[in-house]
Amino acid sequence: MRFSKKLLIANWKMHKTLAETTDFCEALVPFVSGQNVKIALPFVNLYPMIEAFGSKMAFGAQTVSEHPEGAFTGEISAKMLDGIHAAFCIIGHSERRKLYHETDAMVAKKLELLLANNIQPVLCIGETFEEKESGQTLFVLEKQLLSAVLPVKDKMTQLVVAYEPVWAIGSSKAATPEEVNQVLSELSQLVQKKIGSLKLILLYGGSVSSLNLDSFLNSHLVDGVLVGGASLDFETFKNFLR
Ligand code: PGA
Repeated sequence: MRFSKKLLIANWKMHKTLAETTDFCEALVPFVSGQNVKIALPFVNLYPMIEAFGSKMAFGAQTVSEHPEGAFTGEISAKMLDGIHAAFCIIGHSERRKLYHETDAMVAKKLELLLANNIQPVLCIGETFEEKESGQTLFVLEKQLLSAVLPVKDKMTQLVVAYEPVWAIGSSKAATPEEVNQVLSELSQLVQKKIGSLKLILLYGGSVSSLNLDSFLNSHLVDGVLVGGASLDFETFKNFLR
């Protein structure tokens, strides 16, 4: 079983109705037993899945408000996620940063609120193609990571961080395992130097597929994967869990 020790987080983004989500999860349940499998769902599908299958699989959100509560039409707070027993929440996904203009300061607030409400954060960081080409990868990752983590470093002992190069997401061009190893090892050293007490649980995300999954999981630096597109297909998801 691939995910008895390593972690698989599926990010379903804005896909699947409640009926489609229910059918998928119901069929998936027999295959997840004994494995670390989590699915990040759109808000409307989250509570029904926690109610129906929450004892078998972990479900979480894809984002959260940076405000604790108030007049923020359309937003969902960390306290509300805690109220439905969401297991985790993704923050700082590059689609949120780019399409919804989320800044490092907003991501830092989200992290703080999730910790205050006992929801496990999954912090996404990643460089664009231009940043990679101009040799700025580590600089960008350091800024995204430390701006979120430093203000709350005394409030946690470990953190799940997903390294998702923006150029690899939804592009069918995953980073190579060598590239991922290089970045993760530099990141680990950086965190060790700046916040020795924090243990990072490092995921790779960006065009993970049945073809390249094992090349990432075989690395001792990779604790798991964050999968978008490939996790939407039932047969592919099932094969991942072999
Ligand atoms: P992808 O998405 O697997 O479709 O590249 C990953 C993500 O955005 O988390």
